[in-house]
Formats: sequence, C-alpha cells, structure tokens
Amino acid sequence: MRNEIILQPARNVAGTLRLPGDKSISHRYALLAGLAEGRTVLENFSTGEDCAHTLSCLRALGCQVDEMGGGRVEIEGRGSGLAAPSAALDCGNSGSTMRMLAGILAAQNFTSEFVGDASLSRRPMARVIEPLTAMGARIASNDGRPPLRISGAKLRAIDYKMPVASAQVKSSVLFAGLLAEGETFVEEPLATRDHGELALQAFGAEITRARNRVGITGEQRLRAIQARIPGDVSTAAFFLCAAALFPESSLTIEDLLLNPTRAAVLDLLAAMGARILTLSLEVHNGELVGTVKLEAGGLKSAIISGAQTAALIDELPVLAAVAPYTEEGIEIRDARELRVKESDRIAALAAGLRAMGAELEELDDGLRIPGRQKLRGARVDSAGDHRIAMAFAVAALRAEGETTLTGADAAAVSYPEFFSTLDRVVER
Ligand code: S3P
Repeated sequence: MRNEIILQPARNVAGTLRLPGDKSISHRYALLAGLAEGRTVLENFSTGEDCAHTLSCLRALGCQVDEMGGGRVEIEGRGSGLAAPSAALDCGNSGSTMRMLAGILAAQNFTSEFVGDASLSRRPMARVIEPLTAMGARIASNDGRPPLRISGAKLRAIDYKMPVASAQVKSSVLFAGLLAEGETFVEEPLATRDHGELALQAFGAEITRARNRVGITGEQRLRAIQARIPGDVSTAAFFLCAAALFPESSLTIEDLLLNPTRAAVLDLLAAMGARILTLSLEVHNGELVGTVKLEAGGLKSAIISGAQTAALIDELPVLAAVAPYTEEGIEIRDARELRVKESDRIAALAAGLRAMGAELEELDDGLRIPGRQKLRGARVDSAGDHRIAMAFAVAALRAEGETTLTGADAAAVSYPEFFSTLDRVVER
C-alpha cells in the first residue's frame, strides 16, 4: 500500500526556516571522515535516508559512526584503509552513495558488492565503471547498472575527460585519485557542484583547480575535521519556490548553503521577479553560508538551457511545478539527465501536471510549460521520487481544490520533515 497525503491550497507562505545539512556535503564529509585520521565531528548532518545509507555503508566497512542526536554525527576515521564488508553494501535509493563510494572501494585491497532499491538498480553506473576500470579496478555490473561487484586494486592515476557533466562522477574519480599512485586529473564539460573539491581541501588534501579541471596527487593523508553542515539549498528551493507563488509572501532561510555552484535557483527566482536579499554571509570549510530572505512579487518567465540546466539540475522539478503559475511560462532544455534520476523526472512531472489540468509539451530533453494557467487539485504520483513528491506538494498550494499525492513518503530520501515544515510556513 503506497502512502498518500492530502494537500490543501494555501493563501500565503511566510516565516523563518533553518534546514538540515546539505545532502551533497553530508555524503562527502562522511565518506572522507571514514578515510581520515582521527575523529570527525559533524553538526547538522542531513536527516535524509540517502545520507543514512552512506553512514550504514561506512559502518559495514569497519568505521565507527556515532549518531549523537540533534544532527550530530561523529565518525572515527580508519586512516590507512577500510575493512572488507561481510555482506553486500545497501545504498537504498542513493546514487551518490554508490557512485562516490565506488571510487573509494576501487582502491581497497578487497572485493565488495553494491546493491540498491528498484529505482537505483535502473540507474547508469557505466559513468563511474569506465574511469575506475581505467585506473585499475575490476568492476562487474548488470550491463552498466547495479548491482556492482568491485575488486579493488592499487590504482594508477588517470587524466579523465568526463563525457557527462556529473559531480558524483567527478567526486568518485577524485576520491579514487586520492588513493591512487600519481596525479589524477578530472575535466568536466560544464561546471558542476564543487563540494568534492572543497571537502578534500577541508580534510587537508591539496588539489589544483583551473577552469573545469581538477588535479589531485595520490596517497595524501586526510585529517579529521569539525564542521557544521550548511542547510540544504536544494531542499530550500521547494520552500523558496512555494513562497515565490504568492505576492505577499516573505520567507527567511537561515544558515543556508550559498555555494555559487548550487545557489543558481536564487539568481533565477530573482531574475524572474522575486525580491531576494542576502542578510548575512560567511565561509565554513570553504563553503559559502548565509541567511536569505525572499519576498515575492510574481514570477515572469524563464528559458533554462546549457550550463544553467546543469547548475539547476535538482531544482528543475520544483521549477516545473511552479511554471504554470508564472506569467509567461518556463522552458527547460538540455535536461536529458532528468530521465535517469531517481525517476524519469520529465515523464513524472508531465504526468502529474497534466493530471492537474496543466497544458505542457514534453520534450526529449525537457519541458515547455506555458504560464497563466489555472490548475485543479487531482490525484498525482511521486513515482517514488523525493523531488517529484515535494514538487507536487508545491504545485498543490496554488491549485483549486485538494490534491492527493501518492507515494508522498519518498520525500524522506532527502527531507523526512518536509510536509510538517511546509505546514509551518503555509497560511491557509
Ligand atoms: C549530486 C550530483 C547530481 C545531483 C544529485 C547529487 C552530488 O547528480 O543530481 O542529486 O552530490 O554530486 P549527477 O552527478 O548525476 O549530476
């Protein structure tokens, strides 16, 4: 039986929020903590199921991981190497866990196996298998998909030009490069999030960065860190877009990740007509963090393509969800990657928005969604995908009548507290 939730329309969005730690950073800090010397202390660790899978994989690899409550996680690093797991490593729904940990396990002197849920089992892994194999690991898969069986080896450095823009692949190869002999380079076709690079530096590794090319010398030692993880900006995007739907809204988000490779949604909403103020700005472990306030005045239009699509990759579902309520609509192009995320997000968005009465065009690589539409509450499905569940919850706020969202519990993959937090800032 799939979980379902009834969503009522809203009159306004207002309030102040502080969100659990960014998912991308939580994964990377935890993984590097496992390799470091000493005890890493992380505050405001992500509460999502994905990051919990990273922690349970680390435990299975012999790391002591203590969850102290209140978002505090302490990880005892194993410095010189991980322990062979006694069973297959379960990554659940988390592509990040599987792809990035693959880079680390490719360099261990044992064989390990990775499994995932039905969604993850359909996702492409050739993108990490190819470079890690070129570095010397042996990896068996189900025709480029999970499960993976990784026979680790002493890795050789590589100079790798990534065919797809993927931060997970970039981090995977850099983590393998950290453990390899020689200097590894990774070059990406478009800039993607740079948390892997910043996390490596925070843990004391030296790297070089020039344009879209990163270099790392192998066999460097990492030192444990103490860090507070900034609020997840991809989660914030759902609340910011919800607020952007109402002319009188006012939403403040404190302690938010504002890394420029992640915060493109703020620039886009501002360019579309929302008023966005940065109230404070600091740097923690190389990551920009601050407080932002959004006051909406109605959204105009946007055409999102190329590098902007890559920069907004996790925010595209919620942008599509608000598109019908904008003045001139939103067109999303160059987003073929959305078809191989936790679900085929283009198809899932098109199905749900159409069920709510929206007119739109489904393209091979995106969506064309006209503005000034009136949507009505309907039965929509998350397709088991956290960002689709949360996107439809936002679309429901401006629909006429109630919306029934099936598979709503998928939201727990990144933000289990999503619906209660939404209730806190929504005025009905
Ligand atoms: C992520 C990178 C992106 C993103 C995912 C998290 C990361 O995936 O969609 O949610 O933490 O590096 P790709 O690397 O597949 O683009």
